[in-house]
Amino acid sequence: MESVTRKMLVTSALPYASGPIHMGHLVEYIQTDIWVRYQRLIGNDCTYVCASDAHGTPIMLKARKDGISPEELVTTLHTEHERDLASFFVEFDNFHTTHSEENRELVEQIFARLDAKGLITKRTIEQAYDAQAGMFLPDRFVRGTCPMCGAEDQAGDNCEVCSRTYSPSDLVDPKSVVSGTAPIRKESEHYFFRLGEFETSLRQWMADGHVSQSVARKLDEWFEVGLQDWDISRDAPYFGCKIPGTEDKYFYVWLDAPIGYMSSLVNLGRKNGGVPDLDTYFAADSDAELYHFIGKDIIYFHTLFWPAVLEGAGYRKPTGVFAHGFLTVNGQKMSKSRGTFISAATYLEELNPEYLRYYYAFRLGPGIDDLDLSLDDFVTRINSDLIGKFVNIASRCAGFISRNFSGHLAGELDDPALFDEFLAAGDSIRQAYEEREFSRAMREIMKLADRANQYIDKHKPWQLAKDETQQPRVQAVCTQGLNLFRVLMTYLKPTLPSIATAAETFLNNGPLTWDNRCEPLLGVQINAFVPLISRLDNKAVARLVEKSAELAGEATSTSATNSDKAMISIDDFLNVDLRIAEVLSAEVVDGADKLLRITVSLGDERRTVLAGIRTAYDPEALVGRQVIIVANLEPRKMRFGVSEGMLLAAGPGNEDIFLVSPDAGAQPGMRVR
Ligand code: MSP
Ligand code: ZN
Repeated sequence: MESVTRKMLVTSALPYASGPIHMGHLVEYIQTDIWVRYQRLIGNDCTYVCASDAHGTPIMLKARKDGISPEELVTTLHTEHERDLASFFVEFDNFHTTHSEENRELVEQIFARLDAKGLITKRTIEQAYDAQAGMFLPDRFVRGTCPMCGAEDQAGDNCEVCSRTYSPSDLVDPKSVVSGTAPIRKESEHYFFRLGEFETSLRQWMADGHVSQSVARKLDEWFEVGLQDWDISRDAPYFGCKIPGTEDKYFYVWLDAPIGYMSSLVNLGRKNGGVPDLDTYFAADSDAELYHFIGKDIIYFHTLFWPAVLEGAGYRKPTGVFAHGFLTVNGQKMSKSRGTFISAATYLEELNPEYLRYYYAFRLGPGIDDLDLSLDDFVTRINSDLIGKFVNIASRCAGFISRNFSGHLAGELDDPALFDEFLAAGDSIRQAYEEREFSRAMREIMKLADRANQYIDKHKPWQLAKDETQQPRVQAVCTQGLNLFRVLMTYLKPTLPSIATAAETFLNNGPLTWDNRCEPLLGVQINAFVPLISRLDNKAVARLVEKSAELAGEATSTSATNSDKAMISIDDFLNVDLRIAEVLSAEVVDGADKLLRITVSLGDERRTVLAGIRTAYDPEALVGRQVIIVANLEPRKMRFGVSEGMLLAAGPGNEDIFLVSPDAGAQPGMRVR
């Protein structure tokens, strides 16, 4: 095994500071963190940085909608993201933000260098403009029919159905997502990066094996189409870094976002008396390795623009760009109404983060295939692998060692050949981790766990223990079992860092490392065993899904989202059965701060509705009032009961909710048109 220490910088894509971390994001942060922990375990010098991606139009609009400044929004989310990721044991060396001095300095420096080399051109372009909202529209804020395959309601830059890319001006029947009006065309001068200059060197970089086969195939398609100039400027209003020498132009968020990898490193150095410094990892002649983990949706930015910008500005290109697929839950896209859009914070209220780390590792390979979090399989897998196989080895042996031998292990291994087999398997497991074949690593480890359990089954320490003369055998068998457990714990340490810490305390022999696993623990005293992880209760998973559905319901019942502004047909409208209803009773719902349970009369029918309006209305004040109800909404099962409809209300939420009521004279049950 080679023992040269590699110096490496690893990144995960920067989460947008506009919404919570969810199960999908966690695929990436957990994948990266496992890889980083593995690198450290085998002795490499690995630095892991990330940051909030703070700029861009969506963040500006989200802040506007929430009635706060964009700075406030990104600061709040930065704190939440850092907290949530730390709870899943994602351990950054630094988690900075692109809304920072370091990032502004670097983006200006890089832009100036590109400009000095003639790699920036300016020209006037025509773009979609929302005259009602007074702003140019980013691609994603124009939706319409795909010009390639005819699929409706597709984004302005790419089609989810045929996954081809195009420009927003090609869309058929476009609509602004901001105001719902048809965008007009308007001219403005933009700055472009001449990506085409880098074709030869990008092709070479790809050929040199810096990306996987599947990513290379995508790159080939893009080379085929030809590399266009890249528009790197945006007009005010925009939340971002202003382009020096202009009044109303900003750098496009995707120029300054990957620069966030560099500025997070610089910020880390500034906090640490200059170590590390940027050049160590980014100088053109740096011999450190540089790896970016990303999702498959942002391959283009990381394998074309980013390496080209780096090279153009005199920096090195990445050693590897590792793309993963997207998460589905129960075989489908995460869905708010089904309760499968699960945030990190909600997950943590119900479940242990290491269940998810193990499950993702079990599902993850090096490719860009999507991976599924099947909730039933999740429960089975955790209980059979982690609890039934792995932890079981220790719990079957530890009790005898502490009770019968006051914590003392035997002086030699009972079955050294079996122990050596466990050590030898390390080469393949190590290679699997290195190649991001986590799924293979987990399967191989669990096969070994089966072997360890078979060993214990064969020698039956619980039977031996009944016989006074067999005590040395009990100690020998349990010592062997615990030593096998210890090797497996070492293999699982990158995946299960907190369980590993607990096991290290129990084994009482310092941190487990790849190398010291080879030295068995013999003739020493260990500590009392504490249960390392409990069974996964499928009731907790059911609660998690219910909670997530309910939270999504609360969020959408009082505030419209941007995408709700797309047009609907008259038939769609007539399908909504709106009725006048009279409130018969209203009461608070214990345990839900926002909900009221309201019973209404629709003339000849009664309904019970759970409405998220408690922050704005006293229940008593509602009794006798006429309201408007969506009467043909599918009943929704929420944690506090079933809701059989929805009340119409306006306003952003909290104290500002305004129920809609008819003029005097309306009767309960009347249809509203
Ligand atoms: N801000 C950009 C990245 C800039 S990197 C210089 C961004 N942010 S994101 O918040 O939308 O996503 C962060 C990472 O999480 C991306 O790599 C993205 O691919 C990944 N994922 C987001 N949703 C995901 C799933 N549902 N499944 C798997 N990964 C997902 O993109
Ligand atoms: Zn299409």
